[in-house]
Amino acid sequence: MKALVLCAGKGTRLRPFTYTIAKQLIPVANKPVLFYTLENIKKLDIEEVGVVVNPQNKGVFEETLKDGSEFGLRIEYVVQEEPKGLAHAVWMARDFLGEEDFLMYLGDNLILEDLKPFVKEFLEKEDIQASILLSPVKDPTRFGIAVMKNGKVIEVVEKPKVPPSNLAIVGVYLFRSIIFEGIKNIKPSWRGELEITDAIGYLIKKGYDVKGHIIFGWWKDTGKPEDLIEANRKILQDLRVNRVEGEVDDSSKIQGEVIIEKGAKVASSVVRGPVIVGRGSFIKNSYIGPYTSIGEDVIVENCEIENSIIMDKCSLSDVKYRLDSSILGKNVSIRGVKSKPSSMSLILGDLSSANLPE
Ligand code: DAU
Repeated sequence: MKALVLCAGKGTRLRPFTYTIAKQLIPVANKPVLFYTLENIKKLDIEEVGVVVNPQNKGVFEETLKDGSEFGLRIEYVVQEEPKGLAHAVWMARDFLGEEDFLMYLGDNLILEDLKPFVKEFLEKEDIQASILLSPVKDPTRFGIAVMKNGKVIEVVEKPKVPPSNLAIVGVYLFRSIIFEGIKNIKPSWRGELEITDAIGYLIKKGYDVKGHIIFGWWKDTGKPEDLIEANRKILQDLRVNRVEGEVDDSSKIQGEVIIEKGAKVASSVVRGPVIVGRGSFIKNSYIGPYTSIGEDVIVENCEIENSIIMDKCSLSDVKYRLDSSILGKNVSIRGVKSKPSSMSLILGDLSSANLPE
């Protein structure tokens, strides 16, 4: 069995971050979202992985993942010139996939569930032509939705206005090569995309066996900033690691589960976990509260931060208010200044947002 990981979308809902970084490479607990996916694939004993990229982000994926050997995988890159839909991405990978069964994984989905039973059933029962991971959700209009009867999927619909059920299609699918017949027989949807949901719908209509595998555990489509904050919180909470390899001075307090990487320094500060502080970062006279990920080479001085993602090489000093539920991209600088007149000077890129206390 091969795996296909889709990373070619535009990531518009995660701008401004996605102007400079592919959304699947945004760090959660200091690790790119996509790394969790690749680790999950490895656990399923799959070795050959196709990563679907676009011409703009191909280079950064190649630089980051290389040939996959660091993950124990063999990675090949498939270019999808334009994001014309999930089914189109699969079609572009047809040479890589050949006739083999494959696991398709949306690169921006974080799934902590053990996927072995899902894959095992598919491999054992040859009649099943496709199997989709499903999960009950509160807001079914945001997802592809499935209707089940006796363990089989009898209807699928992409982002319905009036949802026929609350079972969302989670971004992990298992297919046999018959899916290409489905893809050949569908037309672009109202959003102009070739939907994999429609290709699955074609299989159902033709009487092929499509299985639904319901999970109740935590998963997240990290499509929006608030999803990233939540994913960061969940991953940090589940880490359950206490590892202080950096330097912490005697006047600092480390509370709860905290990872301070080698080369990081904490001075006269309180770090209340779960928190991760990356290599080379320096925390001085500050409070780093729960669910915060501080990347590498970050400087924080006279600040309070909580429930936030601070990426590499940021520099924060003398900020009067606590930063909460914030995401800072690489190299962001925020400093409080005492000079008069007291005013704010903001240099924010396109689509940045700032919520300031009144
Ligand atoms: O998150 C689960 C949902 O993912 C499912 O419930 C939906 O049925 C499914 O269509 C999908 O919906 P999204 O609108 O969230 O998909 P999105 O456009 O965010 O793309 C998902 C991933 O696939 C993302 O990593 C980018 C990649 N992609 C997307 C498109 C449109 C491609 O590689 N090529 C593409 O053409």
